[in-house]
Amino acid sequence: MKTTIKELKPEAIYPIRHEVLRKGKPFETTFFEGDHDEKTKHFGLILENKVVGVVSVYKKNCDSFEEKEQFQIRGMAILEEFQKKGFGKLLIEKAEADCSKQKADLIWFNARESAKKFYENLNYKINGKPFDIENVGLHYIMFKKLK
Ligand SMILES: CC(C)(COP(=O)(O)OP(=O)(O)OC[C@H]1O[C@@H](n2cnc3c(N)ncnc32)[C@H](O)[C@@H]1OP(=O)(O)O)[C@@H](O)C(=O)NCCC(=O)NCCS
Repeated sequence: MKTTIKELKPEAIYPIRHEVLRKGKPFETTFFEGDHDEKTKHFGLILENKVVGVVSVYKKNCDSFEEKEQFQIRGMAILEEFQKKGFGKLLIEKAEADCSKQKADLIWFNARESAKKFYENLNYKINGKPFDIENVGLHYIMFKKLK
């Protein structure tokens, strides 16, 4: 399957984010703080002219880490019928490559418990104890040092 990954505007990734991560909830719950910041990037994985997966990268530090140049990944979502085909991995690798280009020291994010193994496969580690995000469920802070 021939896929490409493109940088997209927030509006182009919201439908996938909504369908996969906020299904049944108001569309506004799909908007994240910083989505329109100059340094934020949204990537879409495109298969036959259709966006089937998305991920976003924010220039944001987490208090749990001391590294100076930190980036946060959010909104990792692959349409259900396209999951487990390696597309999520491709998007994370793209986000990582982009962060490396921007001289990132560390990438971090809040991972849903159901996705923990996916990120561990990509060499992300857990920091601290799991915590609850209201209406979404148990999460772990996960990270990877890039330097
Ligand atoms: C989690 C998610 C992003 C993974 O994307 P994906 O395209 O399905 O995953 P990939 O096919 O790239 O998987 C890469 C590897 O991780 C494994 N993997 C993927 N999802 C997994 C899961 N939920 N649990 C355990 N392993 C998983 C795959 O088997 C594969 O392993 P391999 O390289 O040994 O074959 C995707 O399933 C998804 O969008 N889920 C719903 C939304 C979600 O949970 N997003 C993350 C919020 S933190």
